[in-house]
Amino acid sequence: MFTQIKVPHEIILNYSEDTLERCAHLLQQDELVAVPTETVYGLAGNALSENAVRKIFNVKGRPLIDPLITHFKCAEAAFSLVYASAAAETLAAAFWPGPLTLILEKRAIIPDIVTAGLSSAAIRVPRQPMMQALLQRLNFPLAAPSANPFGYVSPTRPEHVAHTLGSKIAAILDGGACAHGIESTVLDLRDSRKPQLLRPGPIYAEAIETVLSLKVLRADQTQQKGAQLSPGQLTRHYSPNTGINIIEHGQLHLDPRPGEAVIANRKPGGTTKDHVYWLSETGDLVEIARNFFDLLQKLDRMDYQTLSVEAAPELGIGLAFNDRLRRAASVSVKQAIR
Ligand code: TXA
Ligand code: MG
Repeated sequence: MFTQIKVPHEIILNYSEDTLERCAHLLQQDELVAVPTETVYGLAGNALSENAVRKIFNVKGRPLIDPLITHFKCAEAAFSLVYASAAAETLAAAFWPGPLTLILEKRAIIPDIVTAGLSSAAIRVPRQPMMQALLQRLNFPLAAPSANPFGYVSPTRPEHVAHTLGSKIAAILDGGACAHGIESTVLDLRDSRKPQLLRPGPIYAEAIETVLSLKVLRADQTQQKGAQLSPGQLTRHYSPNTGINIIEHGQLHLDPRPGEAVIANRKPGGTTKDHVYWLSETGDLVEIARNFFDLLQKLDRMDYQTLSVEAAPELGIGLAFNDRLRRAASVSVKQAIR
């Protein structure tokens, strides 16, 4: 069961010059601030401070073997801390600022705790304007995993962060609902001739292939299904406390049993029944992905025993949606979050 936490609403800060300054000040003091990005909310701390980064792992309950993404204000700042390549520069020019994370060999200045001891680092330049304004104000980059307790559903609104981590962090910068609502695409670019997709997201493999004129290796071409793709990219992830059933696309039944909620891709025709929900009026894939975590967070606070969720078509952002859905459904033992 979800443990209801008293939400300290005063930690959700409306965006202004003053609150931006307050967030910058907190981060300079090695405190943590939840920040809006165009994908999901991040739990941010000074990436160059071991002390701040350690707090991120503690607050999330994240194992130290699971490396973090470092967020920069611009490509130039990002590439000064890793060993970039022509392919990395090309992708940055095409997709940054935006929801693409690149894995490249790191320079020594990035603390080992950020990368879980790996020689590579995950870097990205976010597009969200408030996050950009905050990064512009700081003279260090921000390490930020998604701002959820480890293994739980990623937050796409400030209230989601407040409900789960609100008692453990200094502030949440309110950027409203996230534009994509699903995490960035992660691309392993350590070998620039063999880019490998580690996590599907809003930047599609096909778009990367067009820009690089190279084939992108998909995980299912190189790994066993369900295997761990990258450190921390665990099969069991993004999971609500309520059990999830995956229903094939187009096969959803619209007669929920007692204790069951049904989540369709698009609004069903005719009169709708109780406990039937949908992610988009029209079946638009981008909207389906954007609303998924938000609806999971909401339904997980209700009394359902099972959420039956319709899979999306395997194309575009539907690939990222189905990836998160499979991981959310693969929990065998439910853990109550605190
Ligand atoms: O959209 C996003 O990427 C959000 C926002 C806040 O930027 N962040 C996010 O962070 O989703 P997180 O920590 O929840 O996911 C980071 C992913 C993990 O799957 C991790 O294993 C992978 O990136 N990763 C980080 N560093 C890596 C590395 N050096 N090699 C391979 N994978 C890495
Ligand atoms: Mg995460």
